[in-house]
Amino acid sequence: MILVTGGTGLVGSHLLFQLLQSNASVRAIYRTEKTLSKVKQVFSYYTDTAEIMFNKIEWIKADINDIPQLQSAFKDITHVYHCAAFVSFEPSDYKLLRKINIKGTANIVNLCISFNVEKLCYVSSIATIGHHANPELLINEKTEWNADYDNSIYAITKYGAELEVWRATQEGLNAVIVNPGIILGPGYWHSKGSSSLFHRIHKGLPYYTLGITGFIDVIDVVKSMLLLMNSNTKNENFIVVSENLSYKSFFTKTANALDVNPPKKEAKSWLINIVWRLDWLKSMVLRQPRRLTKLTAKSILSVKKYDNTKFKTLFDFQFIPMDTTIKNIGKMYLRDLKS
Ligand SMILES: NC(=O)c1ccc[n+]([C@@H]2O[C@H](COP(=O)([O-])OP(=O)(O)OC[C@H]3O[C@@H](n4cnc5c(N)ncnc54)[C@H](OP(=O)(O)O)[C@@H]3O)[C@@H](O)[C@H]2O)c1
Repeated sequence: MILVTGGTGLVGSHLLFQLLQSNASVRAIYRTEKTLSKVKQVFSYYTDTAEIMFNKIEWIKADINDIPQLQSAFKDITHVYHCAAFVSFEPSDYKLLRKINIKGTANIVNLCISFNVEKLCYVSSIATIGHHANPELLINEKTEWNADYDNSIYAITKYGAELEVWRATQEGLNAVIVNPGIILGPGYWHSKGSSSLFHRIHKGLPYYTLGITGFIDVIDVVKSMLLLMNSNTKNENFIVVSENLSYKSFFTKTANALDVNPPKKEAKSWLINIVWRLDWLKSMVLRQPRRLTKLTAKSILSVKKYDNTKFKTLFDFQFIPMDTTIKNIGKMYLRDLKS
C-alpha cells in the first residue's frame, strides 16, 4: 500500500489522482476535514467521477509532527510519497518551518526505516540547489548549496529536510528526491501557494521583474515522481523544470491566457528595495504578515536558470511546454470564476 503525505495540497492531490488512475491502493493523511473538499475539486477538473475516486482513498487524520498518529498511518505501507510541507517566506514563521519541514521529514524517514518501507519519494525544491556567480551558467544537481548565501528560511528548511532524507539513505532507506521549480496547477487559487499567481495576475499586476526561474506543470511533477518510484533509481535527486522563464514572460503569458492586461512597468531593483522596506515597516506598525520580504525581493530579481538534462535523459522525457500549461490552467481559472 502507498502512503501520501500532503495529499490535500496541490502536488499531493494531483498525485493521488494519478495513483488512483493506476488502481493503486492508497492511504493519505489529512489534518482537517475542510481541506478534503479541495481534493475532490482537483479530481473534478479531470473526471466526472470525482466523488467515486475520492472514496477509494483511505484517509487517516495525522500530522507529520505527531508520531503516534503517523505510526497508525504507516501500517502495511510499502511506498511513501512525502509531499507535505509548510511553504512560507515570513521570517516569523521560521520555527514552524523548521518543525514541519525538517522535524516532520525526520519523522517520516525514521518511520520509513522502522516500518521497512521499500522506497520514499520526497518533494523538495530548486530552492535547495546552489547557483553560479555567472547567471548565464545553467544550475544542475551538482551545483552546490552555499550556506553563506542569503538563503530564504523556506530554502534553509527544505535543505535541512533533504539532509534528513540523505541521512536515512545511509541507514538503509531507498529514496529519490525531486527538485521542482515553481509548480503550476489548478484549484488552489486563493491559497498562499503557487496557484494563487493566477488569481493575482487576474486581479491585475502593474509591475514585472526581469528575474528568471524554473517553472513546471504539476502534472509533470507527479509523472516524474511516479517514474522515479517505479524505476531502479535510488538515492539521487533530480531537477524537474520544464522551462526557465522571466517573471515578465510568465506574467505576460498568464495575463494573455486570462484575457487581462499584462503588467507594463518594470520593477527595478531600487524600487523593489524600497517596497520591501516599506512593507516591513507596515507589518511592524499594523502587526500584519509581510507581503514582500528582503529575500523574496532578492529572489524575484535574480536570474537562475535550471538544467533538466539529468531527468530528461534518464527517462527520455518531454516536459509539457509552459505555453500549454498556462493556457490550460487559465481556462480552468476562468471556468471556476464563472461557476
Ligand atoms: N508549489 C510550488 O510552487 C512548489 C515548488 C517547489 C517545491 N514545492 C514543494 O512541493 C511540495 C508540495 O507543495 P504544494 O504546492 O502541493 O503545497 P501545498 O498546496 O501548500 O500543500 C502542502 C500540504 O502539506 C500539508 N501539511 C502541511 N503541514 C503539515 C503537517 N504538519 N502535517 C501534515 N501535513 C501537513 C498540507 O496539509 P493541510 O491541507 O492540512 O494544510 C498540504 O496537504 C512541498 O514539499 C513544497 O515544498 C512546491
